[in-house]
Amino acid sequence: MNKIAQIFDTLDYGPAPESAEQANSWLDSKNRKFGHFIDGAWTAPGKTFASTNPANGTHLADISNGTTADVDAAVAAARAAFPAWSALPGYQRGRYLYAIARMIQKHARLFAVLETIDNGKPIRESRDADIPLVARHFYHHAGWATHLASQFPDHVPYGVCGQIIPWNFPLLMLAWKIAPALAAGNTVVLKPAEFTSLTALLFADICDRVGLPKGVVNIVTGEGDTGAALVNHPDVDKIAFTGSTEVGKIIRAATAGSGKGLSLELGGKSPYIVFEDADLDSAVEGLVEAIWFNQGQVCCAGSRLLVQESIEERFIAKVRTRMANLRVGDPLDKSVDIGAMVAPVQVERIRDLMKRGVAEGAHVYEPDGEVPAQGCFLKPALVTNVSPANSLVAEEIFGPILVAMSFRTPEEAVQLANNTRYGLAATVWSENINLALDIAPKLKAGVIWINGTNQFDAAVGFGGYKESGFGREGGREGMGAYLKPKWEKHLQPGVVRPHGELVEPRGRANPLDAVPLDQTAKMYIGGKQARPDSGYNRPVLAPDGTSIGEVGDGNRKDIRNAVEAARAASGWATTAAHSRAQILYFLAENLDYRRAEFAARIEAQTGEDGTAEVEASIERLFAFAGWADKYDGAVHNPPMRAVAAAMIEPLGVLGIVAPERQPLLGSIALLAPAIAMGNTVVLVPSARAPLSITDFYQVLETSDMPFGVVNIVTGEGVALAKTLAEHDGVDGLWFMGSAEGSAMVEKSSTGNLKQTWTSRGLDYDLADPCFAGDYFLGKATQVKNVWIPYGA
Ligand code: NAI
Ligand code: MG
Repeated sequence: MNKIAQIFDTLDYGPAPESAEQANSWLDSKNRKFGHFIDGAWTAPGKTFASTNPANGTHLADISNGTTADVDAAVAAARAAFPAWSALPGYQRGRYLYAIARMIQKHARLFAVLETIDNGKPIRESRDADIPLVARHFYHHAGWATHLASQFPDHVPYGVCGQIIPWNFPLLMLAWKIAPALAAGNTVVLKPAEFTSLTALLFADICDRVGLPKGVVNIVTGEGDTGAALVNHPDVDKIAFTGSTEVGKIIRAATAGSGKGLSLELGGKSPYIVFEDADLDSAVEGLVEAIWFNQGQVCCAGSRLLVQESIEERFIAKVRTRMANLRVGDPLDKSVDIGAMVAPVQVERIRDLMKRGVAEGAHVYEPDGEVPAQGCFLKPALVTNVSPANSLVAEEIFGPILVAMSFRTPEEAVQLANNTRYGLAATVWSENINLALDIAPKLKAGVIWINGTNQFDAAVGFGGYKESGFGREGGREGMGAYLKPKWEKHLQPGVVRPHGELVEPRGRANPLDAVPLDQTAKMYIGGKQARPDSGYNRPVLAPDGTSIGEVGDGNRKDIRNAVEAARAASGWATTAAHSRAQILYFLAENLDYRRAEFAARIEAQTGEDGTAEVEASIERLFAFAGWADKYDGAVHNPPMRAVAAAMIEPLGVLGIVAPERQPLLGSIALLAPAIAMGNTVVLVPSARAPLSITDFYQVLETSDMPFGVVNIVTGEGVALAKTLAEHDGVDGLWFMGSAEGSAMVEKSSTGNLKQTWTSRGLDYDLADPCFAGDYFLGKATQVKNVWIPYGA
């Protein structure tokens, strides 16, 4: 063999270590002991815990464990800073964000090295992915701050935001939270994860250096208890959390009824689907990025490989070959692919989970070769021979472990992909763009990557469906999550009438049109009238106490039937928006024919002239017919050869518990936006005056409404709301009723983390024209970003 061939045979990497000298001297300059950053100054260190380098166990610094008093002080500082910060012209706030972005770029290497020694991630990633994206987020949001007034008219910041972040992308998660919050004019108290506080503390130094007004950004370090103190603090207006689904659910329950804004970015078990016509070598490289980036400690990791059966053997062989070439070792070495796990406890967690999976029948492949004996290192692993029920398939492993399964048809791929409680991301590999774009909308996940994976950008929203949480970070949606309509900011007990105008009645109904007395109305489920499961009815009384009819007394069983019917009608979501609009127009038209009868029915139940309410209901149906094909997505232009299509999708099955008053409009004003966006609905009409909606069945039946899109269950609102809140087949729930009922709905919704909207005991005047706008459309939908690469 000649010499060159020999070299190629034995070729190995020499060590290429990045120096940690500057990071160490920064730590030394702080005496390796940190207090909190509150009101623009460092507090004296309190009770501390150690931050260590997981690659070698060395002690890096002592971090203060934030107490309730520390959290109080930080929230007070943020509150005091809020009026001046939010009053600054957006351009001025934009200049601060720009200055932060510049400063991060200037100190990019220091940040990258500090991140790597604290977290264990390869320097290649912190240097080339994490830190550049951090700078990009601040630049991008400098622009949002500048254009806030024109882009979000009549919107105001929440106030003080409590932000809690995990350890897998410490500075990047800080940027995702702080940049939009500040752009919108909020002030923040941020708690980094206990394993990785250091880059947040360096960031505090940067805030100081750019002269950010004191109190605008406060960093309180600590463990879960410190986070909980922030969540429960009465003077915090919004909580933004990224972390485990388990803690996300605790926070949902803890904030129930508080009126705090909430966004949750939680776990995932994202499918990575490879079709037989994919470019297999690219798909293998994508897979490396999907599951071995950051040691697999990525919420959107492509951790479930679904490969088409015809290419399974070939593809798995390629994956194994590639795995054997992954280099595990010192994260500061520039040619290392897989660094250290964040902490020994995570290594233990993963080993336990693997044992369980193997006991349940899984086969595990690990490549030959050694990993460093010291430090939190794990080998990459490929798990096969698993059924969907195996723990390794069902649970988020959060480590370098890939689980593989196969499928035969595209339908089966979608079914397997969606067979998870999570819905954060999904990847589709196919050279057939028609197939890929057919699959993308069918995947229940907030981000879809076509022929690529783990792409992120500040202009493109990120966040999950189902138990992966709600709310988006990045893009317009992400900005919107830190703002609220001005009128919502200072809600007072009493009537909510944002724009204060009333719809003019077109003339009073003829009392002779009054409907016959004493009917018994049934439920309306799956397009059929159904008797209540309980066998009992509830009387409906006129204001003078006389009986004017009866309706069924709905129970859990009726709700379950209605949810089943609503799920079966999910085709409504993919019915063309134009067709949905036609049906809404038809509903309006058919209600218009019967306006006198409906007005009289309102009067019989409430004693008030119903003419204006019927008129407003007809207008509302028209308004949302008009919206159906206009509340639309966007195409983003991230700085790589890809476009991201931000698609607006319905939540799915939406429960609606209508208010007691406004018997017709109260239901129609909520129903119309829900169905216009493609949701199917289980509607509980006013308990006191349900007959307007039981009359409405006939309008539904004469308007070509597909069966199961609108299901109606009469009965006691709070009891039915509880069943809806606890039902995992319900994706969203709107409740109009008491403050206690609202708190109950929020608390009972944690099972599948459905999105809720409640009236918190306030009396919304749904006739207000504000509610004919896009207010409820945003709440009826979620954004899915589909990344589509280009280039031949
Ligand atoms: P975690 O959810 O406990 O930690 C995330 C953050 O929440 C940390 O800052 C922590 O101090 C804080 N926290 C903990 N309990 C809290 C409470 N009751 N109230 C307020 N804040 C609280 O996650 P952990 O324990 O570090 O990791 C466990 C597992 O969670 C991982 O193995 C992984 O599966 C998952 N995880 C998922 C993440 C994601 O981005 N999807 C990020 C981190 C963890
Ligand atoms: Mg550490």
